[in-house]
Amino acid sequence: MLINSIFSTLIIIILGGGQMIFMNFCKSTYKSPLFPLQNYSGRFLHITDIHFDPDYIYPSSPSKFCHRKSHKNKNNNAGKFGSIQTGCDSPYTLINSTFEFLKKNFSQVDFIIYTGDSCRHGRDLKNPVVEEDILFCHQILIEWFTKYFDPKKVKIIPTFGNNDLLEHNSLEEGPNTLFSNLTQIWAPLHLNLTHNFNIGGYFRQDVNSRLSVLSLNSMYFYKENLLVPDCEKEDSPGSKQLKWIERELINAKEENRKIYISHHVPPLDSDGSPAFYEKCYEKYIQLLGDYSNIIYGHFTGHTNLDTLTFVTSTFRTFGESLKKKYNLILVTDEEKEESHSNDPVVLVLNNAPSIIPVNNPAIREYVYSTKDNNDFGVLLNYFQYFANLTEANNIGKVRWELEYMAKELYGINRLQGDDWENVLREFRKPNLELWERYKKYVYVSR
Ligand SMILES: *[C@@H]1O[C@H](CO)[C@@H](O)[C@H](O)[C@H]1NC(C)=O
Ligand SMILES: *[C@@H]1O[C@H](CO)[C@@H](O)[C@H](O)[C@H]1NC(C)=O
Ligand SMILES: *[C@@H]1O[C@H](CO)[C@@H](O)[C@H](O)[C@H]1NC(C)=O
Ligand SMILES: *[C@@H]1O[C@H](CO)[C@@H](O)[C@H](O)[C@H]1NC(C)=O
Ligand SMILES: *[C@@H]1O[C@H](CO)[C@@H](O)[C@H](O)[C@H]1NC(C)=O
Ligand SMILES: *[C@@H]1O[C@H](CO)[C@@H](O)[C@H](O)[C@H]1NC(C)=O
Repeated sequence: MLINSIFSTLIIIILGGGQMIFMNFCKSTYKSPLFPLQNYSGRFLHITDIHFDPDYIYPSSPSKFCHRKSHKNKNNNAGKFGSIQTGCDSPYTLINSTFEFLKKNFSQVDFIIYTGDSCRHGRDLKNPVVEEDILFCHQILIEWFTKYFDPKKVKIIPTFGNNDLLEHNSLEEGPNTLFSNLTQIWAPLHLNLTHNFNIGGYFRQDVNSRLSVLSLNSMYFYKENLLVPDCEKEDSPGSKQLKWIERELINAKEENRKIYISHHVPPLDSDGSPAFYEKCYEKYIQLLGDYSNIIYGHFTGHTNLDTLTFVTSTFRTFGESLKKKYNLILVTDEEKEESHSNDPVVLVLNNAPSIIPVNNPAIREYVYSTKDNNDFGVLLNYFQYFANLTEANNIGKVRWELEYMAKELYGINRLQGDDWENVLREFRKPNLELWERYKKYVYVSR
């Protein structure tokens, strides 16, 4: 991001001075999280969609959202660790088991990406979600993370989901009380919450001089959020965020830094239709494609599904000129026409399955290259872990196990464009075994 000229040095000094004043003013406790470059591979976790329900009781009736008992005893069949495929959220027992597993097996990771939806759903009209519930679940989440991990050693990089807002799916332009509350609640994580977070809910967190995570606010693109417009107007919150992303990508390219992007709602919803407003979607996809050579990872949650979305490139004519355009192909359990395109794959978007047992609860560990060269940040593999919830409820104990290893499953060397292109080609072959396995994992071996 830095250019060596007197001019840019001057700007940096001015900005640097300004930042110092800002930091003093805010009494920021922000400390650099940067860890030194190493010449081997590092690891990080991606966790998503915890949906903690403090009102979950056991035994109770899933048709009453696991909040109350039914007078018919046979209906009180909620599970001790959660109730798969019901309207219930996650009980404390499941979350405790998850964090115990994380602590025992993953205390050495470099950082954790958490893509939101910490709070329960507001489905139970007799027990609606109010503002205090939202602030409480944000608070307890940070208590868990800091109890089980030392944030000075393991950087925890969160965002919020559509159920983490003071009102479901609704988030107005900042500054607002959600952003100011989160700035306080997330303080123990020592994050880089600058002015951008205060106005837009997004921030950049450097892992070191070679790799940065952009934690985005997908609520400003999400078409269910009726408090913001599409990204047509220059001054809409979505457009401002897009401009910030582009600036960060340009800077990263200049500084030879790689980027991971994380946010809650993926660009395509579980049925393959855009989850974003039309213009926000188009512009965001264009950015992903145009900067796919420095975006080394893209992580989302929300759909509770374990899916791959392929970004393919194609040329379109605009008057006299040719311009690169991009398409997204979400691979689901259905055969889709567009997945038969032969366009090159420039990037793959990874959607991780959730803790909340819509399917079996799951967490993911990535391995990335820490070679001190252009490879830094390349995803080398991921390990998908899950807990068989039916078994857990039967035996009264959660057993976390490895579900699959991506590199081995797909028979690829590293998780990058060219390798993924072969996978997409494999998926297109008739009655192939790989797609069958993929389909099973989409629902976390349910
Ligand atoms: C990593 O390896 C390269 C090439 O072997 C070497 O030049 C570089 O100094 C090493 N960096 C570190 C941090 O060990
Ligand atoms: C949390 O999980 C651990 C490990 O399974 C267990 O020993 C402990 O009792 C649990 N705590 C609560 C409060 O359920
Ligand atoms: C946090 O949110 C509550 C509820 O919306 C609000 O009353 C309070 O002022 C907020 N606190 C901060 C520091 O923004
Ligand atoms: C914090 O974010 C700002 C703005 O994106 C960026 O200039 C700065 O380098 C970031 N610092 C760290 C340590 O992430
Ligand atoms: C999960 O456990 C149930 C009950 O023990 C068993 O029938 C099922 O095969 C298990 N599923 C997987 C994927 O291990
Ligand atoms: C977690 O770590 C324990 C102890 O090191 C080990 O026995 C167990 O196999 C690990 N679990 C998984 C799912 O890898």
